[in-house]
Amino acid sequence: MPYLRIFDTTLRDGEQSPGFSMNVSEKMRLARQLEKLNVDVIEAGFPMASEDDFQAVKAIAEQLTKPEICGLARCLEKDIQTAWEALKNAKKPRIHTFLATSDIHLQHKLKITRNEALKTIKEMVTYAKSLCPRVDFSPEDALRSDLGFLYEALTVAIEAGADVLNIPDTVGYSLPYEFGKVIQNIKKNVKNIDKVIISTHCHNDLGLAVANSLSGVLNGARQVECTINGIGERAGNAALEEVVMAVKTRPKYFGVKTQIKTKEIYKTSKLLTQITGIGVQPNKAIVGANAFAHEAGIHQDGILKERSTYEIMKASDLGIKEESKLVLGKHSGRHAFSKKLKELGHDLSKEQINKAFIEFKNLADKKKEIFDEDLEVIAQTESGKSQETWTLSQVQISSGNISIPTASVQLKNLKTGEIKMTAATGTGPVDAIYQGIENIMGVHPKLTEFSMLAVTAGIDAQAEVTAKILYKGKTITGRGASTDIIVASTLAYINALNRALNLKK
Ligand code: KIV
Ligand code: ZN
Repeated sequence: MPYLRIFDTTLRDGEQSPGFSMNVSEKMRLARQLEKLNVDVIEAGFPMASEDDFQAVKAIAEQLTKPEICGLARCLEKDIQTAWEALKNAKKPRIHTFLATSDIHLQHKLKITRNEALKTIKEMVTYAKSLCPRVDFSPEDALRSDLGFLYEALTVAIEAGADVLNIPDTVGYSLPYEFGKVIQNIKKNVKNIDKVIISTHCHNDLGLAVANSLSGVLNGARQVECTINGIGERAGNAALEEVVMAVKTRPKYFGVKTQIKTKEIYKTSKLLTQITGIGVQPNKAIVGANAFAHEAGIHQDGILKERSTYEIMKASDLGIKEESKLVLGKHSGRHAFSKKLKELGHDLSKEQINKAFIEFKNLADKKKEIFDEDLEVIAQTESGKSQETWTLSQVQISSGNISIPTASVQLKNLKTGEIKMTAATGTGPVDAIYQGIENIMGVHPKLTEFSMLAVTAGIDAQAEVTAKILYKGKTITGRGASTDIIVASTLAYINALNRALNLKK
């Protein structure tokens, strides 16, 4: 069967959309999971966009060896140079450069003629190829470009040395039949097209990103650019898990295969949610909470008699467990605990394991059953604690429908031993606590996002809170988990402000 490459752009197109920004270590964590998922290419960022982006691409390029690591660059010498600087130590580096080819973009955004665009493509693809062995070229807004001109631009890119031609439906305007036809026509009309790989990059503005990508595959595309959970600019990109499972579930129809380890799909989706604090809707295909839930009596009856009556895929093929398994209990020892963390893929230092073990024991006192998901949160919270200055001693609130929400907060400075206490009021209990924390820690950022997710099912579940703040132009993420939502919210903000203090230094 012909091979279909999976080019993951979660860390670039996905990360650039509102609410999904990640810091370098979060990007690294996700990149490692993408490597386990076995994607062919990781687009790790846009190195010219910011110092953080540069550092993330560089770190991922230097530490991951299995997938190709790609960096995005506009068709500008400086962008390409910077991308190469970040990628040059990668085992398998790739530069992805792009220039718009639609008249709308050429006239209004770039203010250049078609001939100037062709000249730029020729020069910049040649330049990228002189630095990097693999180069992708994207004609941005391809699906609203004049087709004759699109063929010309793609021919120039091939002549200049591009290895992959990626066809973006930048604004999600195309329809499946139309997108497939464009790929077909590119194959017919672009000279030496058989020397390169055709790729798709579809946005989801009309909810058609996956359908368009698959139509591209049916018409000869052999690489799909996509993202975990379909995140990306505006309405997002084609969801990796949907594209992969469509070609796996209908092999005769698509006649292609990928190398994705589908059993890692669910874990990857969950990790993205955990890092960004943004989950998927319950009815989301493949990874949504209801994707394998059967509510209707007739369906349940059918499933009990024969699974295939109402299921076209096996949840276990995605790494979804039938039930959360009870893993450890109140009486489990440190050895079993650290062994379990290793099994879950967490490599904590001895000191971190000791602290995580205390958290585990505290949790086991409050919660009857401890699941893998609980341990994941404990381990991730511990590894996310970087140089804490302040720690929570006490928090208490008073709130209700007829009282002014009031919080008293006591924090301890771990460096000086000083204990500070304050009381504050706010529009709600979280607002009151956050004002108190800001007063003690002396940092006054803007809270840009706040989200809370239940880690497992059940009334005694831990809540995991993600608080994003904007401080000195940087977005900083803080996280906290507890069976008490007020404590989880408090811990998340202290974590964020500790990071802000580190930045200040
Ligand atoms: O949507 C788009 O056109 C892009 C390009 C950079 C490929 O993201
Ligand atoms: Zn895009």
